[in-house]
Amino acid sequence: MKDTSVFLRACRQEQTEYTPVWLMRQAGRFLKEYRSLRRRYSFLTLCKTPELAAEVTLLPIERLKVDAAIIFADILLPLEPMGIDLEFTKGDGPVIHNPPRSRAEVEGLKAIKAEEGLRFVMEAIRMVCRELKGEIPLIGFSGAPFTLASYLIEGRGTRDFTLTKTLMYQDAACWHLLMEKLSEVVITYLNAQVRAGAQAVQVFDSWAGALSPRDYEEFVLPHNRRVFQELTSDVPAIHFATGTSGLLELMEEAGGDVIGIDWRIDLGEAWRRLGYKVGIQGNLDPAALLGLPERIERCAKEILDAAGGRPGHIFNLGHGVLPQTPQGNVIAMVEAVHHLSRK
Ligand code: CP3
Repeated sequence: MKDTSVFLRACRQEQTEYTPVWLMRQAGRFLKEYRSLRRRYSFLTLCKTPELAAEVTLLPIERLKVDAAIIFADILLPLEPMGIDLEFTKGDGPVIHNPPRSRAEVEGLKAIKAEEGLRFVMEAIRMVCRELKGEIPLIGFSGAPFTLASYLIEGRGTRDFTLTKTLMYQDAACWHLLMEKLSEVVITYLNAQVRAGAQAVQVFDSWAGALSPRDYEEFVLPHNRRVFQELTSDVPAIHFATGTSGLLELMEEAGGDVIGIDWRIDLGEAWRRLGYKVGIQGNLDPAALLGLPERIERCAKEILDAAGGRPGHIFNLGHGVLPQTPQGNVIAMVEAVHHLSRK
């Protein structure tokens, strides 16, 4: 397997001819072909049928000329083999029908064997790698323990994390037990993806920005640190969250070769605060892609300027691409990043 791709070299903070770019949620609803597949199959069927998951993973590679593929799956899939009843409802997003909220329920959560309970993800990874022939690297991913815990406890997405924080503040021992169980799942799942062929991994702690720095340090950081320590070490790891201006240094302390940030912070300032010890990924506002191509190009240039041509910048959005995004605007963005950054 070639290890010379622009994306992998940037993850290792090596010089590249141009800045690599991919998009979170690039394999999803903004693609016409995805929407047409979704008329025939449910989201979970797409995820659980390796041929279909592989097909969706490859769509953005062919259409958008991005520098990395990300396996089509979801952060909530590993919850099912833990004993969780998961449903993706139309309009409401994911719903968990048996959210564990008591100590006994947390104790009842099962450990997973990724090669069994999530065999379909590993099979999809193997199929995609055969297609990509090492020319474009494939990113595996997992939710981080906190972000998974918040869906588990709330039973759905949340704005204020009240049930999650109630458990955290009322029964710290039970909280840490849940986080330990989730950390083990994340480690098992990510290492299995690497064994199946993933050449980099991203840990999505999408909602960590809901926590104060103090709470992050006490309730999240030790678990994230363990996750990064126990990952197969020769594969680059991207540590992503949103709303991270209060957490950047703590995220770096927890681990990851690259820190992923959203658009609420200036990329140059974030990287400086990180002392350039790690790579940086981001950070175009996904809504910028709803604007006109000239403006998209200008915004891309501002981000590239903020990175200042230092090795280790991976261009991305600050969060997932919006379903309403015109495909032509994404193509314009990818072209602008490649063209403007070329040395
Ligand atoms: O990036 C990719 O293209 C790979 C696939 C991917 C999906 N979800 C597919 C998906 C990835 C990396 C994810 C990550 C994910 N899933 C996160 C972390 C990133 C983030 O956005 O914060 C989270 C929190 C989830 C949980 C989840 N899955 C939610 C809240 C929803 C519903 C709302 C929404 O944004 O779509 C999903 C469904 C989901 N996951 C879809 C896709 C393509 C849409 C399913 C459909 O209706 O077709």
